[in-house]
Amino acid sequence: MATNASRIAMHIPPAAPADYAAEVSRGSLARAGAVVRRYLPAGGRAVVVTNPTVRGFWGAPLQASLAAEQIPHLVIELPDGESFKRLSELERLADQMVTAGCDRDTLVVALGGGVVGDVAAFLASIYMRGVGVIQVPTTLVAMIDSALGGKTGVNLAHGKNLIGTFYHPSHILVDPETLASLPEREFRAGMAEAIKYGVIGDEELFRLIESRPRGWDSDAAALDAMITACLRQKAEVVAGDEREGGRRRILNFGHTLGHALESATGYARFRHGEAVAWGMIAAGRIAVLRGSLPAEAAARMNKVIFAACGPLPAIETAPEVILRHAASDKKARAGVLHFVLPTAIGQVEVVRDVPAALILAALADTINIEVTR
Ligand SMILES: NC(=O)c1ccc[n+]([C@@H]2O[C@H](COP(=O)([O-])OP(=O)(O)OC[C@H]3O[C@@H](n4cnc5c(N)ncnc54)[C@H](O)[C@@H]3O)[C@@H](O)[C@H]2O)c1
Ligand SMILES: [Zn+2]
Repeated sequence: MATNASRIAMHIPPAAPADYAAEVSRGSLARAGAVVRRYLPAGGRAVVVTNPTVRGFWGAPLQASLAAEQIPHLVIELPDGESFKRLSELERLADQMVTAGCDRDTLVVALGGGVVGDVAAFLASIYMRGVGVIQVPTTLVAMIDSALGGKTGVNLAHGKNLIGTFYHPSHILVDPETLASLPEREFRAGMAEAIKYGVIGDEELFRLIESRPRGWDSDAAALDAMITACLRQKAEVVAGDEREGGRRRILNFGHTLGHALESATGYARFRHGEAVAWGMIAAGRIAVLRGSLPAEAAARMNKVIFAACGPLPAIETAPEVILRHAASDKKARAGVLHFVLPTAIGQVEVVRDVPAALILAALADTINIEVTR
């Protein structure tokens, strides 16, 4: 039988590279309107996505700055909490935008922590097949981690961040003054990610954190420098490996066992950063037991972690249970665990053949660690 097949070749040029900047500047929220103006399509409208908590503290100055630029805008809210980082909320927000008449010339402005940022950026990436988004992060985690790098998403009942997109913002506006209202526990949890950046690649950043055991209250400039150094470190890693094939993996330092601890405790006992803090301590211990990290370096790291992130809720989960959760994580491809292990402060290696017995021993040591203050 004769077939009459035709073949149409498609050649789609590669997407344009994403070029954008993160700006760390005290008081910049009051100038957000001018930034929005730069990225707003002509005749377009800004949609501020936030939650009631953040809106209560920082909604008014942002709206005033938009009004000062005569930028038409509306504010839509997600309820506060990780449990609202889900698809049904995305649909609800998109419906509100359609009802308000938002078209392709809309610019989304994400005002809030990582939950708001991830949902707002996901929404922007799919609303009418994509509109721009500007991140205005208001938690330490969002400032130094989630706003930059282009990962967006929501959770499913089966796990965190299981659906999402890679979609970069047009700009990130960090006003460290917004941290003034952040609960201390949130700030200290965020410090775990800052220490992570120091250990994986920036000893100077680590030293900066180490030099401030009592925090940043008396020195705003040092805090801003710390945030900037974290962003620089993440930007450098992500630019080299946007989709986590290789180098981006080092950002998972402390996360292999940290995620396991979170999931083993139903995401209720630890803030993410607190679990990562324990995960870094455990990873350091694995490295010491393997003989690839001097014990003094691990002790130095642990001291900074306890000072900056503590008090950490104690681990009450058995090592075997933590390890089981680690092996079933989505990033453990085919059950193979990758560990990012420090070889010095400021340097890490990725190791995939850590024996289970050694992981269990390191976890047992971590659980029993003497907290020195
Ligand atoms: N996209 C990424 O690359 C990436 C990276 C890291 C984390 N994340 C995601 O980020 C989320 C965690 O972010 P988070 O730690 O910012 O939590 P969050 O967004 O839940 O914020 C923590 C709490 O602080 C409140 N808050 C925010 N800013 C405030 C302020 N200035 N003053 C007072 N209260 C304020 C929030 O309302 C919330 O109750 C997780 O969903 C995680 O998956 C994403
Ligand atoms: Zn993290």
